Amino acid sequence: MAVRLRPKFELRRMRPDDLEEVMVIERAAFRHPWSTELFRRELEHDWSTILVCVEPLTSAAGGRATERIVGFLIYWLVHDEVHILNVAVSPENRRRGIARVLMGETEKRAVQAGATLMTLEVRRSNGAALELYRAFDYRAVGVRPNYYVDEGEDAIVMVKELRKR
Ligand SMILES: CC(C)(COP(=O)(O)OP(=O)(O)OC[C@H]1O[C@@H](n2cnc3c(N)ncnc32)[C@H](O)[C@@H]1OP(=O)(O)O)[C@@H](O)C(=O)NCCC(=O)NCCS
Repeated sequence: MAVRLRPKFELRRMRPDDLEEVMVIERAAFRHPWSTELFRRELEHDWSTILVCVEPLTSAAGGRATERIVGFLIYWLVHDEVHILNVAVSPENRRRGIARVLMGETEKRAVQAGATLMTLEVRRSNGAALELYRAFDYRAVGVRPNYYVDEGEDAIVMVKELRKR
């Protein structure tokens, strides 16, 4: 008999009622988190997409199925460029391939939208993120000195060309 397994993670666009869960991850992931207001505004911009990665959960009693948000990614689509602003995974769910799923879906959507270039900035000290982006074949093309005003840290600018459909 064929058994259909439920997918481990599912992706969908963030909804206003996800805000609280997303903010918990944002605050745990960044020393200088975005405000709730900034997220609210982001949800209203046509050019902005926030993808959330959800893990389906079933209660121990086998009752109502629920889900929890385990990570999110924010990107902007402007002309033929997709710019990744933020990607974060809740600390207890790291190294489970969640950022990989979010990055893969973002690239898929970028290609579908006709984008030819992916861009992002990353703190020089953020080893985990640098490794993630390298694993997706992003290459460093420049440095913005003191880009993060909070700590005066440099940003590494990374890009990836996409193949046209
Ligand atoms: C960076 C971050 C999003 C990675 O999320 P994640 O779900 O744990 O990453 P994944 O499990 O999908 O890892 C994918 C690949 O990224 C690299 N990677 C991820 N975390 C890493 C770490 N701590 N050290 C080294 N490489 C790492 C590896 O190449 C990894 O592949 P592997 O597990 O097969 O070795 C997560 O650490 C995070 O939320 N950090 C805080 C927020 C942040 O700094 N975001 C990026 C700047 S916007």
